[in-house]
Amino acid sequence: MKQRKPLVAGNWKMNGDTVFNDHLLGELRAGIERESMAALGIVVCPPYPYLAQVANRLAGSPIEWGAQNVCERPNGAFTGEVSASMLVDLGCRWVIVGHSERRQSMHETDDDVCAKLAIAAAHGLGVIACIGETLDERESGRTESVLGRQVDALARAAHDAQRGGDCAAPMPAERFVLAYEPVWAIGTGRSASAEIAQQAHAFIRSRLGALDGGGQATRILYGGSVKPGNARSLFAMPDVDGGLIGGAALIAEDFLAICGAAAACSSASTAR
Ligand code: PGA
Repeated sequence: MKQRKPLVAGNWKMNGDTVFNDHLLGELRAGIERESMAALGIVVCPPYPYLAQVANRLAGSPIEWGAQNVCERPNGAFTGEVSASMLVDLGCRWVIVGHSERRQSMHETDDDVCAKLAIAAAHGLGVIACIGETLDERESGRTESVLGRQVDALARAAHDAQRGGDCAAPMPAERFVLAYEPVWAIGTGRSASAEIAQQAHAFIRSRLGALDGGGQATRILYGGSVKPGNARSLFAMPDVDGGLIGGAALIAEDFLAICGAAAACSSASTAR
């Protein structure tokens, strides 16, 4: 039985504008209130310029919101960057770090991603930290060595934050979330099968023994071409605790259906 509350997070990437967002958020709010999804955490992550719009539009709603990145430095002469304290100032609760698009196109390393995790945790932000292998790494049999390297680095940083680290208060176990996103499945329409996802998630969980709850408290989301049609089978897997959703997070009906699938798996597992 899963002990963890599932989480569905929408990563809007560099999409949207005020009119589009207003419409999408209105539909999400109405849908979530209609369906009552209390057994589920829901987060949307718009681009930086729209965080304030999203904060206003979601005020009083159970839907939380987060940023897609944060600067690893506290403040100062870093043109174009956004700090953790600025996010907190706006009321932000979550931040995605280490997305493969940033690891690849911005050359972010494990050290960079861990520094982002540390500063986010120090400011009380929940962190969704992304990991995943490329197609080439999978096909050459290096999936576990790549995932192992990425997870071990993040688990060390999360362990420090859970012990207090630089934080005003230790990071609670439920505020550190991992997202397994095989790079070959992102935006390609080619999702990992539920079995492949489960295998990777079980491997990832096996590396989390030093964390609070021995890793059983850490939610591991699956991301990469999650759609209404495959969400239920993915989320039914014992180590899959929800999803990080890209393209389908921009379509209210699809995102709501994916949230519904996570909520159904959660009540199914607690009913057993
Ligand atoms: P996708 O993106 O759902 O469009 O594949 C997922 C992600 O990049 O987080």
